[in-house]
Amino acid sequence: MENLPSPKGCPVKLENKTVFITGGLSGIGKACAIAAAKEGANIAIADIKSPMVEEAMEEIKAENAKAIFIECDVAVFAQVQMAVEKVVATFTTLDVALNNAGIGGEPNKVGDMTEEAWLKVIGVNLNGVFNGMKHELTQMAKQKNGVIINMASILSKVGFATSAHYVAAKHAVIGLTQTAALEYATEGIRINAICPGFIDTPLLAKGGITDHEEVKQQIINLHPMKRLGKSEEIANGFIFLACDDSSFVTGTALEIDGGYLAQ
Ligand SMILES: NC(=O)c1ccc[n+]([C@@H]2O[C@H](COP(=O)([O-])OP(=O)(O)OC[C@H]3O[C@@H](n4cnc5c(N)ncnc54)[C@H](O)[C@@H]3O)[C@@H](O)[C@H]2O)c1
Repeated sequence: MENLPSPKGCPVKLENKTVFITGGLSGIGKACAIAAAKEGANIAIADIKSPMVEEAMEEIKAENAKAIFIECDVAVFAQVQMAVEKVVATFTTLDVALNNAGIGGEPNKVGDMTEEAWLKVIGVNLNGVFNGMKHELTQMAKQKNGVIINMASILSKVGFATSAHYVAAKHAVIGLTQTAALEYATEGIRINAICPGFIDTPLLAKGGITDHEEVKQQIINLHPMKRLGKSEEIANGFIFLACDDSSFVTGTALEIDGGYLAQ
């Protein structure tokens, strides 16, 4: 069927596709949800309980999308399984999954890091991605098609002092992405990652970066473009990887980072 024109007169890229986004109530995940809604998709958001639920879901629905919220902690295997089952029960298929939920974690040098702080970040940022992929791939393998995008980071490729838990988890996300991409390359399923530079979202505020002008400036200066990224700039890459424009792309880790990793 021919794509319907978007309000701007261009064909939409995800017409009637089901797009499942973890951590979609805030920051990058929410921007990706809104971008996918603008491209004609039905949206399912899985996130932990938060006061932002209603406002975020209203913003997504304002793009004329069908959208549901599923309360889910991605670190808990059974909750993610139930979330994926709910998506399929509601929208019949699972076409695109964005494993995006993530936390920054308490900063510390490796020798000073508590086991609790380590396990918390690994639980959400690494186990959460595995939990998502495991259940998404079970469904997509039945359908014999689908697209998975994992939210990695520039810190999937280099180190960052006081963030070993985050850096280790994000490095592993690339390994998971590449391995699954090989496993499903001939089964109609494409699997890629996105590596954002520092993006101006609530995550940076929680990490004490955007709340302190001096720290913020130091982080900005790490990027050759001398600014933080915007969530919408990550969403542009997400749409490219989610739709058929990237039909020959699998196993890649797309850097959207203002030049951070070029140095
Ligand atoms: N902001 C950046 O600079 C940056 C850079 C590189 C990568 N990333 C990655 O992008 C992703 C999104 O980050 P963001 O900056 O938009 O952060 P954010 O804090 O704005 O949003 C994260 C979302 O994940 C949800 N979440 C947290 N723990 C969860 C859990 N256990 N289960 C389900 N949902 C959970 C939160 O409720 C929130 O809605 C993360 O994976 C992060 O590591 C962010």
